[in-house]
Amino acid sequence: MMQDQYGRKLNYLRISLTDRCNLQCRYCMPEEGICTIKQQDYLTFDEILRLVRIMAGQGIRKLRLTGGEPFVRKGVPRLVQQLCAVEGIEEVDITTNGVASRDIDWKQLVEYGLHGVNISLDALDPIIYQQITGVDGLEQVMQTIQDALAVGLRVKINCVPVCGINEQEIISVAQLARNYPIDVRFIELMPIGTGARWKGVDSRQVMDRLESVFGPLEPAGSANCSEEAVGPAICYRPEGFVGRVGSISPMTHPFCASCNRLRLTADGKLKTCLYYDEVLDLRELLRNGATDAVIEKRIVEAVYDKPDRHRFQEANKEMSEPTGDGSEQKYARNHKKMVQIGG
Ligand code: 5AD
Ligand code: SF4
Repeated sequence: MMQDQYGRKLNYLRISLTDRCNLQCRYCMPEEGICTIKQQDYLTFDEILRLVRIMAGQGIRKLRLTGGEPFVRKGVPRLVQQLCAVEGIEEVDITTNGVASRDIDWKQLVEYGLHGVNISLDALDPIIYQQITGVDGLEQVMQTIQDALAVGLRVKINCVPVCGINEQEIISVAQLARNYPIDVRFIELMPIGTGARWKGVDSRQVMDRLESVFGPLEPAGSANCSEEAVGPAICYRPEGFVGRVGSISPMTHPFCASCNRLRLTADGKLKTCLYYDEVLDLRELLRNGATDAVIEKRIVEAVYDKPDRHRFQEANKEMSEPTGDGSEQKYARNHKKMVQIGG
């Protein structure tokens, strides 16, 4: 089992398959677009598999495929099948916007061993949805939610409330958990890339709004809400709800002390913290003929140095106030892009 110098055990790897996306969420994708990874710089699925085998040997038990939008890449189902079969891997999940996944055979993915799907959904009003994402895709997302539930996948909704964009949608998105066994989680906007130009709604405000409509909310336990033993989401089951509503508060209640995550970028770099730059170029090692033993050693060393916590609050102080309307800040110092990290 890999551990860092602070004693945190790392058993969860998030794999970004691409930095491309079929949507252009305003707080995520800059309008000017991003410099995407060159074709030859993407890890192949075989390279990803090799890294996962090495890391499973060092205690990685859980995988999540992210993007950009993972289904923008071809052949994802086959990759899921192979990842699920790796010895030591106990759970494989995927995060999608639910629009690119339109032709996905979810039943087959479940047969391959997929455990759950997190679907990003920031509004239930089709016009607002389109304003946020740039795409008339709400119906498709709703279809994906139905399809995923129908085959028995664990379904979670990720909603990022942003001032002046979708604040008014919080209650209607939460209502999805009323009749379906879904966890709807509201995530605080992090000042990453374009996100730094907007103001997020903090979890306290989200909870106040939920309670004003659904009544007092008692935690329904964080342990069984999130898939991790100690996950970042705190969940509540309002009276009469089948599913749950919850919040993830990276800004107001950072969960770094119990972080069990590593990240692999689509171009093969290891990130040991969402906030910090990549720490290890695994693609270079792979393509220069490094042995499994060497790769393993380099990973273990990099993991040991995982930073204690993110520094978004400090970075925020260095930056000018978010403009709040999506326009560029004067002094943005944090140039990472969420679409390149995958959440
Ligand atoms: N802060 C928090 N969440 C974000 N996402 C994208 N950008 C940000 C940000 N700056 C979310 C998306 C999606 C998930 C992969 O990451 O809404 O649900
Ligand atoms: Fe795409 Fe997700 Fe970013 Fe929206 S938030 S643009 S769906 S990667």
